[in-house]
Amino acid sequence: MSTEQRTPVIAGNWKMFRTIAETEVFFERFLPLVEGVSHCEVVIAPPFPSLRRAVELCSGTGIEISAQNVFWEQEGAWTGEVSPAMLLDAGCKLTLIGHSERRRHFAETDETVNRRVRAALQAGLRPIVCVGESLEQREAGQTETVLRRQLTGGLAGLTERPFSPIMIAYEPVWAIGTGRTATPEIARQAHAFIRGAAGELISPRAAEALRILYGGSVKPDNIGPLMAERDIDGALVGGGSLDPDSFASIVRYR
Ligand code: PGA
Repeated sequence: MSTEQRTPVIAGNWKMFRTIAETEVFFERFLPLVEGVSHCEVVIAPPFPSLRRAVELCSGTGIEISAQNVFWEQEGAWTGEVSPAMLLDAGCKLTLIGHSERRRHFAETDETVNRRVRAALQAGLRPIVCVGESLEQREAGQTETVLRRQLTGGLAGLTERPFSPIMIAYEPVWAIGTGRTATPEIARQAHAFIRGAAGELISPRAAEALRILYGGSVKPDNIGPLMAERDIDGALVGGGSLDPDSFASIVRYR
């Protein structure tokens, strides 16, 4: 599969921002700005309470709504958790899994990432699995070791068929919310490494079809050179996705 056959994905991660009323204001402005866009898939991940409203507002637009996390059990005494079926019921088609903020602040491990990934896939939710090294790990020359460990653990037990809906987001922790974007060259190397590792872990064909998104301080003025790289198939955008004008310019990177 050539680069052209991997449809790019521009995804917004709202983190813990935006109420339902603010979600309505966002889409009122954003939807006309991206009308007719067909060169990429557009995904937005609002917080849980706004998911349903976001799904309603995007109905018929082609924009898909993602959760930011999912639990692995179907139902039960798991206070504070949300199941894959509940997300599907709200109209979500995707979910982020293993974001570095979950790993750092909420004790997410490669093993729990794997449990979430498998439960999401089983239910029919498409996971966007986030991986990435910290600054200390990069400076210690451990980037590839860390990425390989996260991928091996997070994707454990998957074969080509169940793997196919997965997207990977490469988000170097030092670039998230810092204004310090990875250069296209740094991102290119990491993405090529991730594709190679997916080839070994799953299959070369699955790796060729895999969409790998870059995340970390993506803005309207740096999206172009990033998307020009062969192995960069999209972006996961935090801060730059909160403002409708900014996110629309990122979506319209070409
Ligand atoms: P940022 O966040 O674009 O604000 O750096 C990206 C992310 O955490 O997904």
